[in-house]
Amino acid sequence: MLFDPRPKTSRKELFDRKKELEILDRLAERGEPLILVLGIRRIGKTSLLKSFLERWNGIYIDMRGVSKTSDLYERLSRGLSVNIGKLRRFLEGIRGIKVMGLEIELKWRGRDSISLLGLLEELNKFGERFIVIFDEAQLIKPPVSIEIKNAIAYTYDHLENITIILSGSEIGLLRDFIGIENPDSPLYGRYSYELVVERFPNNLAMEFMRQGFREAELEVDERVIEEAVELFDGIVGWLVFYGRSYIDGVRDPSRIFELAVNIALREIERLSIREKMVLKAIGEGAKSWSEVRRYIMEEKGYVLPKSTLSRIIRKLEKMSIVKNYEFLDPVYRFASRRIRIG
Ligand SMILES: Nc1ncnc2c1ncn2[C@@H]1O[C@H](COP(=O)(O)OP(=O)(O)OP(=O)(O)O)[C@@H](O)[C@H]1O
Ligand SMILES: [Mg+2]
Repeated sequence: MLFDPRPKTSRKELFDRKKELEILDRLAERGEPLILVLGIRRIGKTSLLKSFLERWNGIYIDMRGVSKTSDLYERLSRGLSVNIGKLRRFLEGIRGIKVMGLEIELKWRGRDSISLLGLLEELNKFGERFIVIFDEAQLIKPPVSIEIKNAIAYTYDHLENITIILSGSEIGLLRDFIGIENPDSPLYGRYSYELVVERFPNNLAMEFMRQGFREAELEVDERVIEEAVELFDGIVGWLVFYGRSYIDGVRDPSRIFELAVNIALREIERLSIREKMVLKAIGEGAKSWSEVRRYIMEEKGYVLPKSTLSRIIRKLEKMSIVKNYEFLDPVYRFASRRIRIG
C-alpha cells in the first residue's frame, strides 16, 4: 500500500527510486566501505534503505532513542532477529550469540561476550558482502558514538566485506558526526560516498498520488491530486499523510495541510527558545542575517548576541530545516509562523 505510513520494506512496494537503488546496488557490489544516505525528514530514506537491504545480507538499526550501550546491543540483536531466516548461517557458531528459534540472544558484557566490532569481524570472515545500516546516525551520542565510530574506522581499514551505511535527516549534523574533516575524529580523512534522496518532481508526485488512490479504490478528482502536490512539494511522507487523511474522510486540502502543520509544530517545539525565535523570523520572511536580527529585536525586544545568532543559523542549516534563509519543507515554513514564544 503506497499510503501505508510505515516505511516500505520491499522493492515491490517502493514507488520509483530506481536510480537510487541502482547506485546503492553498484556501490555494494564494488565493496564501498562507507556510504551516507542523506535527505530531509519524510523524504523516504528509511524506505529506500530497507528496500535496498531486501536483496542483500545485512542489518538495519534505527538509532533514534539509543542513548546507552545496552540500547545499542538491544537494537543490534533485534535487527539481527528480524532477518534471522537469512542471517542464521552467518550467526550460528559465533561466540556471544545464541540463535534460539526465531530470535537471537546477544551477550555483550562479561565472559564469552561479543562487541559490535567483534561481530563485524566475524561477519567479515564469511567472504560475502554484509551491509550494516545505522539510521538517524547523527543522533548517536557518547559513549555509544565512540564505540560506533571506532568500529566504523576499523571496518573501513580492515574489513573488506562489510559496507557501512549511515543515514540521517539532519544532514549537516550527520556530516559532523562522521567528522571526515575533523582531525580528532577516528574517521578523519576517510572518503564516504554521499547519496542524497530528493523530493519527487511534480509529475512523479502526481503519479504517486494517483496510484495510491487507485490502490485504495477511491476515485478522486485530478484537482485533489494537484492540490496535494502543490501543498506538499513532492515530499513523499506528506503525500502519504495527505492520501490517508483524504481516505479517512478529511476532504478539504487546506484542512489536511493544517493537520500537517500541527505535526510539524510539535516537532519544532523541541527546539530551544532562541532557535524558535530565529525560525519564526525566517518563517515571517527575514531573508538575511541582519533581517533576522532586526525582526527579533523589534518583535521580541530581544538583542541576540551576534555570535549566538550565527551559531543558531548554522545549527538550523545543519538540521536541514533551512538553507539560505529558505525552508526546505513548506509545512515547516507555515508551522514556524505559528511559533509562540513566552
Ligand atoms: N519510494 C516510496 N514509495 C512509496 N512510499 C514511500 C516511498 N518513500 C517513502 N514512502 C512513504 O513515505 C513515508 C515516509 O517514508 P520514510 O519513513 O521512509 O522516510 P524517512 O526519510 O525515513 O523519514 P524520517 O526522516 O521521518 O525518518 C512512509 O509512509 C513511507 O511508506
Ligand atoms: Mg527514517
